[in-house]
Amino acid sequence: MPTINEILKTMDYGPAPEGTKEAQAWLEQRSRTFGLFIDNTWSEPGELFASTNPADGKQLAELTQATTDDVERAVQAARRAQPGWQGLGGHGRARILYAIARLMQKHARLFAVLETLDNGKTIRETRDADLPLVARHFYYHAGWAQLQDEEFAGHRPVGVVGQIVPWNFPLLMLAWKIAPALAAGNTVVFKPAEFTSLTAMLFAEICVQAGVPAGVVNIVTGDGRVGEAIVKHEGIDKLAFTGSTEVGRLIREATAGSGKKLSLELGGKSPFIVFEDADLDAAVEGLVDSIWFNQGQVCCAGSRLLVQESVEQRFLAKLRARMDNLRLGSPLDKSMDIGALVDPVQRQRIAGLVDSARAEGCTVYQPAGCEIPADGSWFPPTLITGASTAAAVSQAEIFGPVLVAMSFRTPAEAVQLANNTVYGLASCVWTENISLALDVAPQIKAGVVWINTANQFDAACGFGGYRESGYGREGGREGMYEYLVPVSEDARPAAPVVEKSKAKAAPAASADPFAIDRTAKLYIGGKQARPDGAYSRAVHGADGKFIAEVGEGNRKDIRNAVEAAHKAAGWTKATAHNRAQVLYYIAENLAARGEEFAARIGAMTGAKNPEKEVQASIERLFYWAAWADKYDGLAHQPPMHGITVALNEAIGVIGVVCPNENPLLGLISLVAPAIAVGNRVVVVPSEAHPLSATDLYQVFDTSDLPGGVVNIVTGSADELARTLATHADIDAVWRHDGSAEGCAEVERLSAASLKRTWTGGAKGRDWYSTAQAGGRAVLAHASQVKNIWIPYGV
Ligand code: NAI
Repeated sequence: MPTINEILKTMDYGPAPEGTKEAQAWLEQRSRTFGLFIDNTWSEPGELFASTNPADGKQLAELTQATTDDVERAVQAARRAQPGWQGLGGHGRARILYAIARLMQKHARLFAVLETLDNGKTIRETRDADLPLVARHFYYHAGWAQLQDEEFAGHRPVGVVGQIVPWNFPLLMLAWKIAPALAAGNTVVFKPAEFTSLTAMLFAEICVQAGVPAGVVNIVTGDGRVGEAIVKHEGIDKLAFTGSTEVGRLIREATAGSGKKLSLELGGKSPFIVFEDADLDAAVEGLVDSIWFNQGQVCCAGSRLLVQESVEQRFLAKLRARMDNLRLGSPLDKSMDIGALVDPVQRQRIAGLVDSARAEGCTVYQPAGCEIPADGSWFPPTLITGASTAAAVSQAEIFGPVLVAMSFRTPAEAVQLANNTVYGLASCVWTENISLALDVAPQIKAGVVWINTANQFDAACGFGGYRESGYGREGGREGMYEYLVPVSEDARPAAPVVEKSKAKAAPAASADPFAIDRTAKLYIGGKQARPDGAYSRAVHGADGKFIAEVGEGNRKDIRNAVEAAHKAAGWTKATAHNRAQVLYYIAENLAARGEEFAARIGAMTGAKNPEKEVQASIERLFYWAAWADKYDGLAHQPPMHGITVALNEAIGVIGVVCPNENPLLGLISLVAPAIAVGNRVVVVPSEAHPLSATDLYQVFDTSDLPGGVVNIVTGSADELARTLATHADIDAVWRHDGSAEGCAEVERLSAASLKRTWTGGAKGRDWYSTAQAGGRAVLAHASQVKNIWIPYGV
């Protein structure tokens, strides 16, 4: 024991361990063995696997590896319970969510200790971050349940939801998943990660106490095989997954064409940018919270430090000094900064990546005084410098307490380095210059930007990624939409079958000698372009007669169109007012040639009243022009000193495969909302009736639409859709031509680069109906939310 005098001299911390008596007693009372929680009943334990304490390697309990039959029972229980849960009404559900929130607060310490025992994260974090956020999530969503009829009118719950979470925030991820699903009126089959299921078991007991009806929450434990069974189950209407990008991809492939709604929250390699005028000491503290919070096992960890060259050495010296003071040890000790890693498997993975950096000649700094306990799974705080931007440690998600630092000279270079990743989850910007911060924030391709702060979360502020960090948002209003479906979608008619064979038939001999000249070209970069393959295809009218030829676009044409769309990036930066004006102007110029367009539609489709489609197209252009400058974001006021600005940003370049029916209205209904919010598009028009699209070139040319914003490639929908879905520089693909297999293929192929997709499947849409072809649901497909956290006030 040191004397008081010695303690005052060294100012060293004494141990301050949190007691585990209650948590251990809770485990003992359950014989340290758990079955599955289905229909508010605990099943007999089955095949068991161990859950261990990563801080000492000792077994805590055993859990059941659920079988396919168990998953079946859980889905059936959820299905049975769903109508009753929905029927309880918003207020009924709000009361139960509120009861859960209260009970979580009441048992917060038990939950916190159990989480620390099971996961290895420090008690400081479970007690001060995880648990308060969990309670807040249930309170907040009790509120949405209460206001649902008013605020989400015209929507219904999705139905039965499958939810799979990782081990880094076991209880918090549970709350992020279950609270909005329940609020919206869904029932769930939930799977915790196999390393960390214990707090989910305790949560099941809370559900019973809170009066959650049987079958509303079902919890099945086990490894990835249980996850796979949930993903494949036909009775699941929506999947919500958080975890590795690799498994996210598998889930995208497995669900392609199934019609299941999907949200994926995947990996990250988030930049932490420090400008020369930043408060460097504050930035060091921010960095500690960003990369050493939860041992760096955080999807949005600031794992790439980008520091301005002029302050690099000063900043790194401060950082190393701070690292020397970080305390690693028993996570139950309240004065520890760094706890244990979840499992030795993760330790090996991290050590392997750090070794590879050493072998490549990087400098690896680890505090000399950092003692690693003999048992358990640990890794010291680590700083790597001298890594190239292409090195594995600079690109891969390390998911450990390892920071990779590099420098930049100008803000432009900082943005370029920040975006040099396949991910796009989060980012931090540190500067005392608010103009600089607000200039840089929109340029970073990430779902969250924290200005002069780090790792802030709140139930009111949506969280989720760009690019390969996944899609969908958790939290906020946008998070609720993930668990709802517009009722108008239920009323969708079956897509009319449009014979493509006519388009493919050999041209009938035409009596018209000039027919040969009527070959519509492609439209790329604002110019008409001959198809690369120099092939054409014939277009026949409803009466089977030859009307004209269109270019047969191929892979190369799509490549040129994508390139042109990328060059038209100025459209995304244009003001919404400007975009609205262009859309109105297109409508005006279309109206001026209305008769011609109607005649063409009549000739191609045989429609009795083709004027109706032209009029509806003009109105649809007005509709999206009206929305262009009204699709505003939100300013959230989370419980911190600041505001969070939620911006609706364009996705980028969208590939659009248009419906066959309503060749003009269908195209306008998809292209107009996409460009209204700033996207650029590569459009594959109706394969059967492509001439309404090719007729639009002149309308576009006279409407101030910048070249490259809309590019049109005619040809085989299947072939071109395939090319769009596999193109690395396309951010999203929409397919609405009524081909179920084609839509499934697009979804499957999109998995490689995790593109967003919006497909209509075989079900059609009434393109005349604003309820089905308009509204925020369409805009949500065309945009992604970026949350910018800005300190504000005192
Ligand atoms: P993982 O993605 O394999 O596991 C996450 C969850 O998915 C677990 O519940 C697991 O049982 C389940 N799962 C696994 N295979 C599945 C499948 N085929 N179908 C359905 N569900 C399946 O992540 P893991 O193996 O635990 O960690 C590996 C790496 O993934 C980490 O080192 C880290 O880089 C990354 N990761 C990223 C997370 C994030 O939040 N971004 C969270 C966890 C891991």
